[in-house]
Amino acid sequence: MTRIFIPKDVAALAVGADKVAARLAAEAQSRGLAVDIVRTGSRGMLFLEPLIEVETPEGRIGYGPVKPAEVASLLDAGLLRGGAHPRRIGKVEDHPFFIRQTRLSFARCGLIDPVSLEDYAAHGGWRGLKRAIEIGPAAIIAEVTKSGLRGRGGAGFPTGIKWKTVADAPADRRYVVCNADEGDSGTFADRMIMEGDPFALIEGMTIAAVAVAASKGYVYCRSEYPHAARTFSEALVVARQAGYLGPNVLGSGHAFELELRMGAGAYVCGEETSLLDSLEGKRGIVRAKPPLPAHKGLFGRPTIVNNVLSLVAVPTVLDKGAEFYAGFGMGRSRGTMPLQIAGNVRYGGLFETAFGLTLGEIVEDIGGGTASGRPVRAVQCGGPLGAYFPVSLFDTPFDYEAFAARDGLIGHGGLVVFDDTVDMAQMARFAMEFCAIESCGKCTPCRIGSIRGVETVDRIIAGIKPAENIALLEDLCETMKFGSLCALGGFAPYPVLSALRHFPEDFTPRNALAAE
Ligand SMILES: Cc1cc2nc3c(=O)[nH]c(=O)nc-3n(C[C@H](O)[C@H](O)[C@H](O)COP(=O)(O)O)c2cc1C
Ligand code: SF4
Repeated sequence: MTRIFIPKDVAALAVGADKVAARLAAEAQSRGLAVDIVRTGSRGMLFLEPLIEVETPEGRIGYGPVKPAEVASLLDAGLLRGGAHPRRIGKVEDHPFFIRQTRLSFARCGLIDPVSLEDYAAHGGWRGLKRAIEIGPAAIIAEVTKSGLRGRGGAGFPTGIKWKTVADAPADRRYVVCNADEGDSGTFADRMIMEGDPFALIEGMTIAAVAVAASKGYVYCRSEYPHAARTFSEALVVARQAGYLGPNVLGSGHAFELELRMGAGAYVCGEETSLLDSLEGKRGIVRAKPPLPAHKGLFGRPTIVNNVLSLVAVPTVLDKGAEFYAGFGMGRSRGTMPLQIAGNVRYGGLFETAFGLTLGEIVEDIGGGTASGRPVRAVQCGGPLGAYFPVSLFDTPFDYEAFAARDGLIGHGGLVVFDDTVDMAQMARFAMEFCAIESCGKCTPCRIGSIRGVETVDRIIAGIKPAENIALLEDLCETMKFGSLCALGGFAPYPVLSALRHFPEDFTPRNALAAE
């Protein structure tokens, strides 16, 4: 029986993976070939999806992107032996997009059957949890702190310090909440984990629960992720049946129950306090801080809120040790970051690497420049609230501090590439419009400021008193930056100001009728 792996990740499904799988099953049957089709997550090389892989003595040989109509010719070419075909890419791990990666969090993604406990354990699964149970809460927190792991959801806050704060807060109950709202433009890493390696998230959350003595956890998943929700729910059932969750996790005496909740479909519900309100069944509105969620979070109890990527990094930290994890990266950005390369780019996908590559290396070398073949003009880094970086800043290393020093942020690792046809004044307008639409409405600089921002950009584009309106826009951005209650209003100015600073030529009058 030859094993053939075909992703069921939604990015692969969108380009016909199910049809390829069905055609292959039917064609193999009619030819009397014994094949075992295993549905996996994605390897992250989205430009090759649907990517099918065949197990051979030489390793897993990939073919992609495969169209259903090509299945017969693949079998004719000896697919089951890894035969030659125009779609053959060779050993998947040797592909240039893959071989340069350091896959710690995504080591299993695309490799295994996502809901097979056997596969998970055979590829290093549960080792981190077992060690965590052995060493106990204080040592777990010390290990996570020493690893230098920082929150991958946006703010880059040290994970170990957050956990210690929750562990030290006196309480009758504590919670672990996973932020899987993944609202940033161009990001899909959380989804890929939930679809491709859901036990890794369960393991990371269980380690967090042991560390802070929490008996209940929730995953708050973006409403637009039904496939992720389905796979994760299946994994929850399997993990519970096998004793990795429940009243006595792996016989440790520690109880931990985990539930999946679907989000409310609002960008602001990814902000941790409005997420908690939403989880409590209320409208998602940002809470004033203090109190921090670590002191008073879900239902008023000390709560860890961590991004999916922060939590899935933890099993590696526990299994291989803090020093191993901290051995990757640069400066205060330790470990690896799953970059999500998107937009107008030739080789889009997920690329996990140690911090420190330059933006230019990521976009030009790894991403291969634009899909349109035109020159790259701008890259928006870190989601809709991130700055637009021009090519002149391509020497910036991918590092929290280096990006901050250039008024940018790395956020959740999303990079959206634009070619030279982009209109940066429209992008600035879009940032303000996005903020206006997504604002929770609690504070004035964001609620009103974003509307005034759209109007002001419109006046600049129309050529109405451009110098005065640019000054007004800059002033408004300062007010939003420093006067907003949360980072939605506080960071919306960054794409606007970066567009103004790096692409001033786009803010000149377009409308010949407009008068000064
Ligand atoms: C408007 C807004 C949206 C956010 N969306 C997300 C999100 O989708 N996912 C996420 O993990 N963090 C998001 N954050 C950051 C969270 O508030 C919080 O910092 C994060 O979940 C903490 O986890 P970490 O320390 O593991 O990064 C958002 C923040 C803001 C202000
Ligand atoms: S900045 Fe915007 S989203 Fe954040 S609290 Fe204020 S109104 Fe709400």
